[in-house]
Amino acid sequence: MRADPHSHADLEQGRVTHLSWVLTVDFEARCLHGEARLSLAEAASGPLTLDTRSLHIHAVTDADGRPLPFDLGTADPILGAPLTVHRDHPVGELVLRYRTATDASALLWLEAAQTASGRPFLLTQCQAIHARSIVPLQDTPRARITYDAAITVPGEMVPVMSAAPGARDGDTWRFDMPQPIPPYLLALAVGDLVPRDLGPRTRVFAEPSVADAAAWEFADVERMLAAAEDLFGPYRWDRYDAVVLPGAFPLGGMENPRMTFLTPTLIAGDRSLVNVLAHELAHSWTGNLVTNADNEHFWLNEGWTVYAERRILEALEGTEVAHQSAALARVRLEEQIARRHDAGQRTALTYDQAGLDPDAEFCLVPYEKGFLLLAAIEQAVGRPRFDRFTRAYIERFAFQSITTGDFLAFLAEQLPDHGVDLDPWLYEDGLPPSAPRFPVPRLDALGSAARDLPGTDPATWPRPQRVAETLYFLSQLPLLDGPTALALAEHIGLRGTRNAELRSAWLSLAIRAGVVEEAELEAFVGSVGRTKLLAPIVRALVASGRRDRAQDLRQRYASRWHVSTRQALATA
Ligand code: BES
Ligand code: ZN
Repeated sequence: MRADPHSHADLEQGRVTHLSWVLTVDFEARCLHGEARLSLAEAASGPLTLDTRSLHIHAVTDADGRPLPFDLGTADPILGAPLTVHRDHPVGELVLRYRTATDASALLWLEAAQTASGRPFLLTQCQAIHARSIVPLQDTPRARITYDAAITVPGEMVPVMSAAPGARDGDTWRFDMPQPIPPYLLALAVGDLVPRDLGPRTRVFAEPSVADAAAWEFADVERMLAAAEDLFGPYRWDRYDAVVLPGAFPLGGMENPRMTFLTPTLIAGDRSLVNVLAHELAHSWTGNLVTNADNEHFWLNEGWTVYAERRILEALEGTEVAHQSAALARVRLEEQIARRHDAGQRTALTYDQAGLDPDAEFCLVPYEKGFLLLAAIEQAVGRPRFDRFTRAYIERFAFQSITTGDFLAFLAEQLPDHGVDLDPWLYEDGLPPSAPRFPVPRLDALGSAARDLPGTDPATWPRPQRVAETLYFLSQLPLLDGPTALALAEHIGLRGTRNAELRSAWLSLAIRAGVVEEAELEAFVGSVGRTKLLAPIVRALVASGRRDRAQDLRQRYASRWHVSTRQALATA
């Protein structure tokens, strides 16, 4: 098997199978320090190379405290520095004492002013290759690990992790993850967090002032869990909890096992954005159980998860809602394919990523082209057979990290007669013309009304109902002049919406129409760190000749954003 292009690890040297982590969270120094005890599959001598990024390694010993020589290689700008430990005798356990750098790429340290509680906050984001900036290990999904942790935090602060909580001893909290996970699922958040029970095996954590709203917004999680189990088999991770983070969190959600991380921008007050929760929950099967072997096979995580998310949505809310979601995503996918094409970037589902930064490759293609491929196979063989295939796939590869080749071999074995021409999907850029389409008459009507809007009587303008409908409607508008944009916002109640997706869409439209209110723009950009909501705004500024304003906002707020957001906005 080709080695992971995003890791220095050589699995022939040995495999890390368990991490025993003892960490202190130092908010003043903005670092984590402590030790990582790595268990290896078997004791062996010889070199062992681990991934690191800007870690300060103080000492490496074996389990008996005997020092082991090590050297830190030159840092690669994307991969970080290889740490090679030299084992002159058979070693089955390594103990590394270290601390993280203040600019560790997995860490986001938030000041009191950036949180709802007015207290500092720390969160991690390890996918795809940031785990190495907080712990030295073989940072490839191929090297699955179990872990336990003892985390010491300042008094009054509460840590949550992608693991089962254990005993607490003063300010030290224990955790245990007994199932093997890829290192990108290591996760920690520390802040003023309180729990709210949602059901027998689900609860949501949030800062106190947000907790009740969060509990209301995500109350459907038990139903989602039941629907998902019905479709994909038993939930294998015991509890399913979630934590609502401060607005600076760079994502909509992150599927950290047992503890999904969520942006507070999902709290719209009407449960209209909970598909993100369904998506992260679905990763409990597609992604966390069956995992991509490396970032070249990321579509196996995300394409399958979008498919699963829409099946859950369909089970809960019906076919039209699921189809609307697919239709809106199709518009975004085609826009992104065109943009990437112009920038000379690939849009195949799998391609050589050696020398490429996973954060820079991140886009909708693995999600939505992946979804469309699975939908095409489903349409070819019929839903009942595809459902059996899906369950068999999850069962066959549970707790494994697999490549596109593994998927293809299993597909050929289980559905030999599917008849879908796979090569254009997998290896060629763009979207095959045969890609499935989902009929959504309401969106078609909204789309043509939007395209014809300028010059028509406002009394005839439609009023889209659901958020996906509004977003679709907005996506189909031509460039509007200022008065029309304002009249439209008034007509459909866009201004002052609590819905962050709609606010982002409105701000982008208002910028393009030259009627954006600068204070409103400033308030949004200053409080939200989610790349998906910020990127359209930056693009709108650049497209309307306001590159300086974009630069000014980036300069003033970049320190509040995660590195992946900073990077994405620099090239938006
Ligand atoms: N696993 C992803 C987030 C991710 C991907 C982080 C790659 C870092 C590298 C997560 O499941 C995700 O896809 N989140 C989406 C949700 C949406 C597709 C419903 C998001 O954050 O917008
Ligand atoms: Zn996902």
